[in-house]
Amino acid sequence: MTSPAFPADPVGCPTSPERTVRVDLPGAEPRGYDIIIGTKVLAEAGTLIRDRLGVRRCLIISDSAVAELYHARLAAVLAAAGHTLLPPAFLLPGESSKEIATLAQVLDHALEAGLDRQTLLIALGGGVVGDLAGLAASLAMRGVPFVQVPTTLLAQVDSAVGGKTGIDTRWGKNTIGTFYQPALVLTDVTTLDSLPVREMRAGYAEIVKYGLLGDAPFFAWCQTHGALLLRGDREAQMYAVASACRHKARVVAEDEHESTGARALLNLGHTFGHALEAAVGYDGSLRHGEAVAIGMVLAFRLSARLGLCPSNDADLVRAHFESLGLPVAPPASKLFSADTLITLMGHDKKARHGALALVLAHGIGQAFLANDVPVEEVRAVWTETMRG
Ligand code: GLY
Repeated sequence: MTSPAFPADPVGCPTSPERTVRVDLPGAEPRGYDIIIGTKVLAEAGTLIRDRLGVRRCLIISDSAVAELYHARLAAVLAAAGHTLLPPAFLLPGESSKEIATLAQVLDHALEAGLDRQTLLIALGGGVVGDLAGLAASLAMRGVPFVQVPTTLLAQVDSAVGGKTGIDTRWGKNTIGTFYQPALVLTDVTTLDSLPVREMRAGYAEIVKYGLLGDAPFFAWCQTHGALLLRGDREAQMYAVASACRHKARVVAEDEHESTGARALLNLGHTFGHALEAAVGYDGSLRHGEAVAIGMVLAFRLSARLGLCPSNDADLVRAHFESLGLPVAPPASKLFSADTLITLMGHDKKARHGALALVLAHGIGQAFLANDVPVEEVRAVWTETMRG
């Protein structure tokens, strides 16, 4: 970390109007990029792009709901800064757009609009838009530059940073994708004002994840400030988004392609969570961040059960999510068997050679990758959770 992530007094939020987090990527050619976080970033997007990436032909990819809120504004500031705009591509909102036919349509649209290798793709929206647009950028003309403009909390603290792109197939989420880094991430926290509280909470779970996996003081900060952040406090939002991005930037710089294990820690709660999402059937009754919150509670409960982590830490994780209205157990209206969920965990792409590889914890802020976790213990934790 290049700058102090946390104040000496964990209760404080240092103030500054704009924060820049750098993602430094190793390699022969410099591939690092900035994440600019602030409250006027959307208004300045045209000049920020011009100053860093030059005057460009730009093609905005968004979904129709986000486009209604922000497309005209973004297009206007891009034009005012001298960029040329190609006709935009708007997806239908929702996870169902994250599939191969939509990807093909977007690519076809971009080529028809006259995209060339210098054209900048701009992803304006949440995780679905960002993942699909990033994949399109990595494929079009064997790779065109792209900028992420994340408008959801989940995208701002996770999916827009780090270069994972992807679409879903019948074999699972993100089963087709690439690692392809953006050239710039422009994060305007004022876009969070348009998010329903449930979406805010779901994104917030991914913020807490960084504290749980590697930074106990940040978890303490979340305990004190989480409610404030969800109520819309700007300083708390900026501080949390910048802190989360700093954490992620450090991990991505260390293990860009998830090959050494460092990046795999970002999957804390995800193998449990993905199984739940798959069991529910992606019907919208469980948001990704909600499933991950439940998954993190279960990962800590399992760690405590295995004698790896103090039981009190598992209780604190559960209590924090519960206090903010996040779910900590599967929806009561849905009936699953522990066996179904374990089978789905095995289908998760992080399961290797039939054994369950899970991110567990020695305590808050001390996650590690555990290979060969006994399936019986995982089953016991699911069963216990579903009994309430
Ligand atoms: N969302 C996990 C990662 O980017 O690696």
